[in-house]
Amino acid sequence: MMVKPLKTNTERLACLEIARALPEWFNEAGLKAMERDLKSKTTFVAVEDNNVFGFITVKPINDKALEILWMAVRRELRGKGIGTEMLRFVERWAVERSFEVLVVKTSGDLSYKPYDETRRFYERRGFVRVALVDPYPEWGEATLIYVRCLKR
Ligand SMILES: CC(C)(COP(=O)(O)OP(=O)(O)OC[C@H]1O[C@@H](n2cnc3c(N)ncnc32)[C@H](O)[C@@H]1OP(=O)(O)O)[C@@H](O)C(=O)NCCC(=O)NCCS
Repeated sequence: MMVKPLKTNTERLACLEIARALPEWFNEAGLKAMERDLKSKTTFVAVEDNNVFGFITVKPINDKALEILWMAVRRELRGKGIGTEMLRFVERWAVERSFEVLVVKTSGDLSYKPYDETRRFYERRGFVRVALVDPYPEWGEATLIYVRCLKR
């Protein structure tokens, strides 16, 4: 398996399919925004033999902060280290471009179980909670903001 920039329309559709199969995390509004971002923002895909296993989409907030907009791994392949590998790839990519922090926003509804796994995933990888904004104006719901300093 390798992580590389998303290039083809087929890969983009595969990313959407992965997210569509994870409705506990991605609703229709999210999928719509994701579809737009997959066309306009930088996305990396984890692939093997032309099969997309997962993806991660990023967007610079400014020249020092890079935001992870979307991330997902095919449901049946979760928990095998693919997400960690994609995150490592993005960390290296970001350091090479002189970014100093990674930012990620995720659900701030602390009673919603699926996002417990997501929050745990980020926290075990060094992301620190810096704010719980409720409601976050753009999303209209509680949002947790995480930041992680990049090693240089
Ligand atoms: C979050 C996500 C991208 C991580 O990718 P991944 O390939 O599953 O991640 P890894 O295998 O590298 O690590 C998964 C960790 O979650 C844990 N985990 C707990 N429950 C799990 C489950 N049901 N499935 C997978 N991993 C699970 C694993 O044990 C591992 O824990 P660790 O921190 O002790 O290593 C992926 O699980 C996913 O697509 N989740 C749903 C969508 C989502 O939350 N996206 C991010 C928000 S936009």
